[in-house]
Amino acid sequence: MSTAPNITQQANVHPAAATVLSVKNLETWYGPVNAIKGVNIDVREGHIVTVLGANGAGKTTLLNTIAGVIDPFKGSVEFRGKAIHGLDPDAVARAGVVLVPEGRQVFPFLSVRENLMMGTFARASRDAVDADLQRVFGWFPRLLERENQHGGLLSGGEQQMLAIGRALMARPRLLLLDEPSLGLSPLLTREIFSIVKRINTELRTSILVVEQNAAIALSTADDGYIMELGRVVAAGSCTELMAKDDVKEFYLGGAARHLRSDGPQQRWKRRKTWR
Ligand SMILES: Nc1ncnc2c1ncn2[C@@H]1O[C@H](COP(=O)(O)OP(=O)(O)O)[C@@H](O)[C@H]1O
Ligand SMILES: [Mg+2]
Repeated sequence: MSTAPNITQQANVHPAAATVLSVKNLETWYGPVNAIKGVNIDVREGHIVTVLGANGAGKTTLLNTIAGVIDPFKGSVEFRGKAIHGLDPDAVARAGVVLVPEGRQVFPFLSVRENLMMGTFARASRDAVDADLQRVFGWFPRLLERENQHGGLLSGGEQQMLAIGRALMARPRLLLLDEPSLGLSPLLTREIFSIVKRINTELRTSILVVEQNAAIALSTADDGYIMELGRVVAAGSCTELMAKDDVKEFYLGGAARHLRSDGPQQRWKRRKTWR
């Protein structure tokens, strides 16, 4: 992967960065369904961390639990040393942890500008709102072109930009991104991820991004975790993860080839060999 050396450099710039988010033994249930089964995840200050996993792995549940949308049954979520589990979502956002939800969830009948202004409710101060708005328009010129259009009229990619822009208007210290590539073309996915990287570099915002698109996520983030059925099955720097045979095989495009040669049963066995 051509960007691998950059990731290594980035990781070496902050070898002793403080832990900004610490998720410990997190367990979340929906009635009788145990969606998260004791998950541990750390995000260091200024880093991009990705959580990869197939549909149903528990990625959205993890982010929603961190963001206070769902309360955990067990475990803890600490942000900059303070427990935030059990807080309401608006209190979590005010503390600096802002979620860009799965499927964007823009307000369809509000204009682009009004959607962006909805992000400002969680700000500590009203100062510099206009400067921040201009900065968001600088990152996403297409939002400026459509400033007065209804959010619901934007394309999927533009709605993702709007959802990220709205989150940035809250001045997050930690941005939680739920599958930003969902439903987007490879080109738009790359565009979104390059802006995610810029936000991280220019604002020093820490980012936790969950994805099914392992290739783009691993080439953007510093560290990664892999979740299957509510558990973390592998963790490490993205460089380490990309070198693992299991990751190459099941997350970077080798799975189909493997299925053809060995059949589903062999594939199932191989899935159990995380190392
Ligand atoms: N509202 C819900 N009620 C019951 N089960 C749910 C609900 N939302 C998600 N689940 C279940 O929790 C598990 C994790 O789902 P989710 O967090 O959405 O995974 P992902 O985001 O990785 O696709 C799945 O088994 C899913 O069916
Ligand atoms: Mg999801």
